[in-house]
Amino acid sequence: MADDNQFKKVISHAKEYGYVFQSSEIYDGLSAVYDYAQNGVELKNNIRDYWWKAMVQMNENIVGIDTAIFMHPTIWKASGHVDAFNDPLIDNKDSKKRYRADVLIEDYCAKIESKINKEVSKAAKRFGDAFNKEEFVSTNPRVLGYFEKINTILTRMGNSLESEDLADVKALIEELEIADPLTGSKNWTDVKQFNLMFGTKLGASAEHAMDLYLRPETAQGIFVNFLNVQKTGRMKIPFGIAQTGKAFRNEIVARQFIFRMREFEQMEMQFFIKPGTQKEWYEHWKETRMKWHLSLGMGADNYRFHDHEKLAHYADAASDIEFKFPFGFKELEGIHSRTDFDLKAHEEFSGKKLQYFDHEENKSYTPYVLETSIGLDRMFLAVFSNALTEEALDNNTTRTVLKLPAVLAPTKAAILPLVKKDGLPEIARKIVEELKWDFNVAYDEKDAVGRRYRRQDANGTPFCITVDHDTKTDNTVTIRHRDTMEQQRVKIEDLKAIIKQEVDVKNWLMKM
Ligand code: GAP
Repeated sequence: MADDNQFKKVISHAKEYGYVFQSSEIYDGLSAVYDYAQNGVELKNNIRDYWWKAMVQMNENIVGIDTAIFMHPTIWKASGHVDAFNDPLIDNKDSKKRYRADVLIEDYCAKIESKINKEVSKAAKRFGDAFNKEEFVSTNPRVLGYFEKINTILTRMGNSLESEDLADVKALIEELEIADPLTGSKNWTDVKQFNLMFGTKLGASAEHAMDLYLRPETAQGIFVNFLNVQKTGRMKIPFGIAQTGKAFRNEIVARQFIFRMREFEQMEMQFFIKPGTQKEWYEHWKETRMKWHLSLGMGADNYRFHDHEKLAHYADAASDIEFKFPFGFKELEGIHSRTDFDLKAHEEFSGKKLQYFDHEENKSYTPYVLETSIGLDRMFLAVFSNALTEEALDNNTTRTVLKLPAVLAPTKAAILPLVKKDGLPEIARKIVEELKWDFNVAYDEKDAVGRRYRRQDANGTPFCITVDHDTKTDNTVTIRHRDTMEQQRVKIEDLKAIIKQEVDVKNWLMKM
C-alpha cells in the first residue's frame, strides 16, 4: 500500500543528511534530475561494488567492460530503439498534464487489486485460524470477478499496444472512466507514441554534424563488443559481460524522486548461451538475482516476481523483481531472455559476423542472451527507503535511524571523544588514522555525546566509538551498535576486527 507520508520523509531525509539533492537547485531545479551528495555517493558506490563483486569478481565466466555513452547511431536502429522505444502518451485537455496511457490503465487495475486485498483481509478476520487464503481467492465469486476484470482489461490493453491500435487504448481509458489523477477531468486527447531517446550532435559545424543519441541502455555497448571480449578473453560459452554506467531516457512521466529519472545508472549483465538452453538460464538468473537481493536482509516479503505477459520486441520471456517502495510494489530489476535478437540485428546492420565457434559442437552459431538489468538509482531508493525508521524509545522519545545494511553504509564508524579536552581528541584522531585504511570513518566532537549518537543513527553509521577518560589508562573504548543501541567496552586493538565482521562484503555475500 502506498505511504505518501513515509515517502515525503524519505525525500526530505535524503536531502537533510547529504544523500540526494535536486539538480541545479539554486536555479529552481531541473525536473527528474538529481545529484548524489557526500553520503549518497558513498552509498551508491557501495551498492555498485556489491553488485560488481557478486556478478563479476565471484564468477570466473563473467567479465566487466566500460563502453562509451556515444555510440554509432545505426546501433539504435538495429536494436529497435529508433522504431520501437516509445511510450504511449495521452494529455488531459483541461489540466494540460501528460500521462503514460498504459500506466493510467495499470493504476486502474491496481485499484481493483486493492479491493481483492480488502476482501482477503475481511475474510481472514471472519474465519480466523481456519482461513485458507488460496482456497478463498480461487472460489470467492466477488474476488474471481475482480480477477477476471483485471485480466480482461490488461489483455485488451496488451493486444491494442501490440497492434499499435492507439485509438482502442484511448477507448479503453474512456470506457473505464479513468480520470486525471490530479484533477478528476476525463477530457482526454488521442494517444500518441513518443520516442524516449535524447538526440544530440557530434561535430563542429551544423552541416557536417552527425546525429547521435545518448544511450538509453548500457546493454548495446556489450552486444557490439561481444566478439572482441570473447576473442581477447578466450571466453567459452556460457559466459557473461557486465557493465555499469549512465543511461538517458526522455521520460515523460518522471516522478517519484529517483525512481524514474531522465539520467540514471544501470548495472547490466548479458549472459551468452547456447540456443535452446535459455529456459534453464532464465530460471537460474531469476533465482540468483533474487538471492542477491535477499542477502541484504531487507525482508523477503518486500520482493516479488512479476512475469511479463506482454513481451518487449527482443524477448521470449521476461520477469521483473519488484520491490515494495513507499508507493507500492514496483519494478526494481528486469531479467530478460533476449534470444539472439540483438546479435542477429547487429550482424545484419553492420554486415559483420557476430558468431561463436563452439569447439565441442564443432559448429558456429549466434548465441542466445540472458540479461539481468537493474537500475542503480532504483536500488539506492529501495535500500534508503527501507532503512528509514522512526523508533519509539522506552523514555517516551523517538529516534530516527537509518538502518542501512552495514555493508552498504557510507560511514562505517564515527569516532567520538567524550569531551574536547584532556587528550581525548588526540586519542580519537589516532583511532581514525588507524581505521581509515580499512573503512570510511568519521570524527565528530561537536555537541553532547547523546546528540552525536542520534546524528550518526540518522546518517546510517553502524558503529559509534567513544573515547573517554578510562581509555587513557586501559586502552579501551565504548562501541555502540546503531540498531540495538547496545554498548560494549572493547580494546582499541580489537576495533578493526569487530567492524570488519559486520561490514565485510564476504560475510554478506556468503548469505546468497
Ligand atoms: N537493457 C534492458 C533495459 O534497459 P529496462 O527494464 O528498460 O531494461 C532496466 O531497464 C532497469 O533500469 C529497470 O528495472 C530500472 O531499475 C532501471 N530504469 C529504467 N528506466 C529508469 C529510469 N527512467 N530511471 C531510473 N531507473 C530506470
